[in-house]
Amino acid sequence: MSHDDPQPPAPRPATVPRTARLVVLISGAGSNLAALLAAQQDADFPARVVAVISDKPEAGGLEVARAAGIATVVVRPADFPDRAAWDAGLARAVSAVDPAWVVCAGFMRILGPGFLAEHAGRVVNTHPALLPSFPGAHAVRDALAHGVRVTGCTVHLVDDGVDTGPILAQRAVDVLPDDDEATLHERIKVVERTLLVETVAALARHGVGLDGRRARIGG
Ligand code: GAR
Repeated sequence: MSHDDPQPPAPRPATVPRTARLVVLISGAGSNLAALLAAQQDADFPARVVAVISDKPEAGGLEVARAAGIATVVVRPADFPDRAAWDAGLARAVSAVDPAWVVCAGFMRILGPGFLAEHAGRVVNTHPALLPSFPGAHAVRDALAHGVRVTGCTVHLVDDGVDTGPILAQRAVDVLPDDDEATLHERIKVVERTLLVETVAALARHGVGLDGRRARIGG
């Protein structure tokens, strides 16, 4: 081969990795976030967390993100004149990283109309109860107080209600006679982390279609 011969193209991987960009919204410890970060260590996992956004600078999940080298942003309601302005600020912070999916993983605020106008259809939430039972911020406490024998977790699309969007996946957890809120929530979270990782992977691979309220991953 002479110096003038064209160089062969650089070798390319047999399959070009295609991964969906994720933004994760958190308010707390971030164990669901940690589960996603652990899952993406596998090169075959079809999604990558590109940014973590919190409404609380003290959220433990921000440290989880930083330790993994993930960009973090804090969008505090106190830094905005009103709820609508905060909502718009959050929407901008999410848009700036251009995600395929927004994952609410222990994000304890309602996403408002401004946010949903920009991101509806790609926002997913994980909730520690079998919706439509026990929506809201105290799902585990409410389920215990009601005396249910079985509860669990739900991953759903976010609409403009409180935990009312189309259900993507659910898994049941038994309530034990001696459970208190902390023990029950901890057992739910073990199941929830796996459910969230599996559901995000399925969404990233296949997308989701809607037939009325019925969500069909890949459909
Ligand atoms: C999770 O159980 C999640 O479902 C719940 O907060 C926990 C966050 O845990 N979210 C809600 O209750 C929303 N209504 P984490 O910070 O360890 O991931």
